[in-house]
Amino acid sequence: MRASENIIVNMMTSKEIRQTFLEFFRLKQHTIVPSAPLVIKDDPTLMFTNAGMNQFKDIFLGNKIQFSSRVADTQKCLRVSGKHNDLEEVGIDTYHHTMFEMLGNWSFGDPSSSDGIGNGYFKKEAIAWSWELLTEVFMIPVERLYVTVFEGDEKENLPRDEEAFSSWKKLVSVDRIIFSNKKDNFWEMGETGPCGPCSEIHVDARDDDARKDINGRDLVNKGDPEVIEIWNLVFMQFNRLVNGSLQQLPARHVDTGMGFERLTRVMQQKRSNYETDIFHPLIEFIEQKSGINYGADEKTDIAMRVMSDHIRAIAFAIADGQIPSNTGAGYVIRRILRRAVRYYYSFLNIHSPVLHDMVAILSDQFENVFPEIKSQQVYVARVIEEEENSFLKTLESGLKRIALLEKDLIHNDILKGKTAFELYDTFGFPIDLTRLIAQEKNWTIDEIGFYEELEKQKSRSRRAAEVVSSDWTELKKVDKIEFAGYDLLETKSSVVKYRRQNAKDREIFQLVLDRTPFYPESGGQVGDKGKIIFGKEEVEVLDTKKENDLIIHFLNKFPELLSTADLRESSEVIATINRSYRFNTMANHTATHLLHAALRNVLGDHVQQKGSLVAPDHLRFDFSHFSKIAAHELESIEMLVNEKIRQNILREVQIMPVGEAVKSGARALFGEKYGEQVRVVTFDKNFSRELCGGTHVPATGMIGYFKIVSESAVAAGIRRIEAITGITSETLIRQNFDSIENLKREFGNDPEKGIAQLKDENTRLKKQVEEFSSVQLNQLKKELKSRIENIHGVNFIAAEVSVSSPDALKKLAYDLRNETDNLFFAAGAAIDNRAHLCIIISDQLVKEKTLDAAQIIRDISREINGGGGGQKFFATAGGTNVKGIQTALKQAKLKLSK
Ligand code: SER
Repeated sequence: MRASENIIVNMMTSKEIRQTFLEFFRLKQHTIVPSAPLVIKDDPTLMFTNAGMNQFKDIFLGNKIQFSSRVADTQKCLRVSGKHNDLEEVGIDTYHHTMFEMLGNWSFGDPSSSDGIGNGYFKKEAIAWSWELLTEVFMIPVERLYVTVFEGDEKENLPRDEEAFSSWKKLVSVDRIIFSNKKDNFWEMGETGPCGPCSEIHVDARDDDARKDINGRDLVNKGDPEVIEIWNLVFMQFNRLVNGSLQQLPARHVDTGMGFERLTRVMQQKRSNYETDIFHPLIEFIEQKSGINYGADEKTDIAMRVMSDHIRAIAFAIADGQIPSNTGAGYVIRRILRRAVRYYYSFLNIHSPVLHDMVAILSDQFENVFPEIKSQQVYVARVIEEEENSFLKTLESGLKRIALLEKDLIHNDILKGKTAFELYDTFGFPIDLTRLIAQEKNWTIDEIGFYEELEKQKSRSRRAAEVVSSDWTELKKVDKIEFAGYDLLETKSSVVKYRRQNAKDREIFQLVLDRTPFYPESGGQVGDKGKIIFGKEEVEVLDTKKENDLIIHFLNKFPELLSTADLRESSEVIATINRSYRFNTMANHTATHLLHAALRNVLGDHVQQKGSLVAPDHLRFDFSHFSKIAAHELESIEMLVNEKIRQNILREVQIMPVGEAVKSGARALFGEKYGEQVRVVTFDKNFSRELCGGTHVPATGMIGYFKIVSESAVAAGIRRIEAITGITSETLIRQNFDSIENLKREFGNDPEKGIAQLKDENTRLKKQVEEFSSVQLNQLKKELKSRIENIHGVNFIAAEVSVSSPDALKKLAYDLRNETDNLFFAAGAAIDNRAHLCIIISDQLVKEKTLDAAQIIRDISREINGGGGGQKFFATAGGTNVKGIQTALKQAKLKLSK
């Protein structure tokens, strides 16, 4: 849409657009909820939030009761992996993004369904309100809008969506309604999970001439950059099972998602999302940095779009706790960052870190919507800068590698697939970068070979990571799974459901109980181990994990009772956890809280938790801090923690609204999803108060002695402390005492004195040996000088000598050269059963006789089964054949005689 046409009277800023959306639904009795973090922690089927509905998945599946029937929000989403993956399109076109905001409204349980409660709604209301908002509030002209309706699918046995069709017919003329197939109009979150038919709303943003030429209707869902989908209304009715079939959900729900950046583009009448006030400040910054104008050239435009898109994904992911790394979600973020660096390096001629400076722009822009960037701005920028620096170095070493390839690996100007893959795998060179470099050098790449290698690698890692789950077998319906492990170590429980899972050729059984004392791995604390007793049969629980709100026990074998009908009638089991495993873990969890508080006390308030591992035998705590922690600081931290342990402070646990908790000074973590009500764990209200779901000792005295065992760097701006407590630190202390006792036995009662004496003696002896060797070397030198042969004016010596090290051989050669004019010295020595050769030549001879020690040594070292090199005046070689030394020396002489 051109600004001059001024079709939307109502020109709003992006902030106003977001606010208007939320306000519209607030007035329709929706509760406005915060965005869930971008990085997903408790769902193995998903790495990043890829749709607004992710955080409500359990409500759709009936695993969780909804807290409100109507909800709306703006959700940070990232689509770079899995089913919804837009990465390759980002930047090339003007309307796909990695990270984007999805404006959404939801209804959980419609009133017409048996499970529906209160004021839920379904298709009729969802459709009417979307139309009202777009056409009456945002004033988008009706003649620019088209809607789609699911046409049905015979294979899936799904009928045409008549209900949606009849709702649309009341609002819009039939020629604006398009029936579409399953690909476009049946929404699924992933391979399995909640899904249903959908209706999309598309906007035709072309100018009048173009609209006259081709009917917008014919361009819907055809990839036209100006006829785009902006809102998707999904009617959740089914759960897709592992076997591919569709199961009716317990209730019907509404899930809508509107692309905020696209809506803003339409409202601000721009031809591209990147021209809106969301992206414009970022693009302007890049223009200044590169000295190139946006719009000047397609290639530089793409690079600017890539940078301004990617920095958002990177910064938000890091702010939500995801550090770039070599695996999993961290690797995805690293790849996005590298893609951005590669584009600015190759197309904008920027060769030093620049993305990190863009964090400040985002921090201001999102201060009131997603404050997590503002409050961690320095940290986020620092992590990004470090990553940029290291990838820029990699890029340069990759380029050097390519320069080397020019000599060795190119046959008929073709770069082998294997080599292109090595560049990709080892140096992080994506194929399009290699392609670009190849183009400049007039090489062709064996791309088929490259993709073959890539496929091989992919299937290797697929095989390693593949986890195949069967569908759940449900025995009992429950509203809520109860975690009873704060108070109990053993409970009577009933089986709710179970399934089998195959991972890496191993079969595992997963079981869900209605109540359980087993703590599922979360918040850094490891999952409980223990056993579940089925009648007479005991089954071991190897681990406990969370999947959204389910607590899943991983069993070592399939309980026999489950294969019989008995359990259905009396499905009662006894679940009991391994006490010492849990107790030691609890001690370490409380110690982690004390450590966190002590760090802030000693180092300052900038310390933020960035990750933790709480296991029975040790704890690990990662936090933001910019320099190495000095020994005296570590000592103060350790002393403070131990002081708090000795004070035997009692645990206090309170459940309260999240706002109140934060106001009371409780520490919350960025990137953590908190509900309305939170659990606050306090050990001395003036010392440690944290939002935490973990298990803790009743009083700090039970932790025992706390000992820091290491302090290190994890990434830019992140330090790691590892520590031990209780029985583990006791054992360490005992072992240390034992070694001191052993030392005493060896060195007498004062081992420190004994060791100092030993060191002195060692230094004295070393000196003596050196003196002795130098006398020997002098003698050797004299003897060698007496053997000088004059060959065509060259003072030639060749000899096999007896020396103790290659360094001694080198010293001998240099000394001789300093003391003898026109010298050509070739020496060999057998040291520790290896053959060593060296040649040294006076500078004068190198020049006049064009002699090259490196070349000669390369030739003669064949005799010792080895190789070597060096400079023209001095070269060395090593090899395995000691017997070849004499022949090698003879050959050296021949070279001179020629
Ligand atoms: N879940 C749907 C989508 O992501 C609508 O919110 O498009």
